[in-house]
Amino acid sequence: MTAISMPAPGGIPLLGLGTYPLTGEEAFRTVRMAIDLGIRHIDTAQMYGNEREIGRAVASSGLPRGDFFMVTKVDPGNLGAARFADSVARSVDDLGGPADLLLIHWPPPEDDFDATLDRLMAERAKGNTKAIGVSNFSPAMMRRAQQRCAGALINNQVEFHPLLDQQAVLATAREQGMVLSAYSPLARGAAMKPAVIAAIAARLGRPPSEVVLRWIMQQGVVAIPMTTKRENALSNIAALSLELSPEDMAAITGLGTRHGRTINPSWMAGRWEP
Ligand SMILES: NC(=O)c1ccc[n+]([C@@H]2O[C@H](COP(=O)([O-])OP(=O)(O)OC[C@H]3O[C@@H](n4cnc5c(N)ncnc54)[C@H](OP(=O)(O)O)[C@@H]3O)[C@@H](O)[C@H]2O)c1
Repeated sequence: MTAISMPAPGGIPLLGLGTYPLTGEEAFRTVRMAIDLGIRHIDTAQMYGNEREIGRAVASSGLPRGDFFMVTKVDPGNLGAARFADSVARSVDDLGGPADLLLIHWPPPEDDFDATLDRLMAERAKGNTKAIGVSNFSPAMMRRAQQRCAGALINNQVEFHPLLDQQAVLATAREQGMVLSAYSPLARGAAMKPAVIAAIAARLGRPPSEVVLRWIMQQGVVAIPMTTKRENALSNIAALSLELSPEDMAAITGLGTRHGRTINPSWMAGRWEP
């Protein structure tokens, strides 16, 4: 049950547990398993329909709520003035207390962009979250949002793994004083397959998944892999103690293309860049 100590860029523990698409008892069981292994950073969202089970799992651990780093995200359908505050109140209730980090899950509509960020700021002022951030924001959106929030945004959660070139988003995060979190860090399995990664993994005697997660975290990017399996969770934790050479880091970075997305909903067409 002892927490694993790890770096926490911007206050966000470098390794967390993803929880999509877990619901019901599977969500409860998986979060309890991760807590037992020492993980304290849990990623959820209103959209996942599992905040209540996660809140229950955290409470049932018997550990103080303050030991955890809980991230949730406001659903696109709740971003408008009529629903934002009520939806966050429900999340706080389900999670058993204020969030540590509250994100806007997907970019707001253009004509409500600034007002949505104002609503996010208001939730922090009310104490419903300690910190605020965004998700799936392009570099231009990150700059605009960070200016609107007077520098208060600490995080952009984006798809990030070796198959996708996210260097522009990473550079913008550094420029804007934000930390990136990598969702789908294993590209749901696809990122473990390239021969370059398999060769590095074989040479180091570690599984490809650890090489991928280490490549992410060694750049100061937070990783939130989802796993329901204890042995995979242990392996993901072991990635914290791996070290990749500059040559191996560069070889893996070289795999990325602009077309490597796993998650690419139709409503984001034309909005990923600039
Ligand atoms: N902000 C957003 O819009 C957004 C979008 C997508 C996802 N997310 C978040 O990011 C989290 C992670 O992304 P994801 O679930 O899409 O993809 P992922 O973490 O890249 O992949 C999950 C898959 O990898 C397997 N896996 C995990 N660790 C492994 C290991 N060590 N060895 C082999 N296989 C392993 C899991 O299977 P097993 O269970 O069998 O281990 C699962 O099938 C989500 O759960 C969610 O919290 C956010």
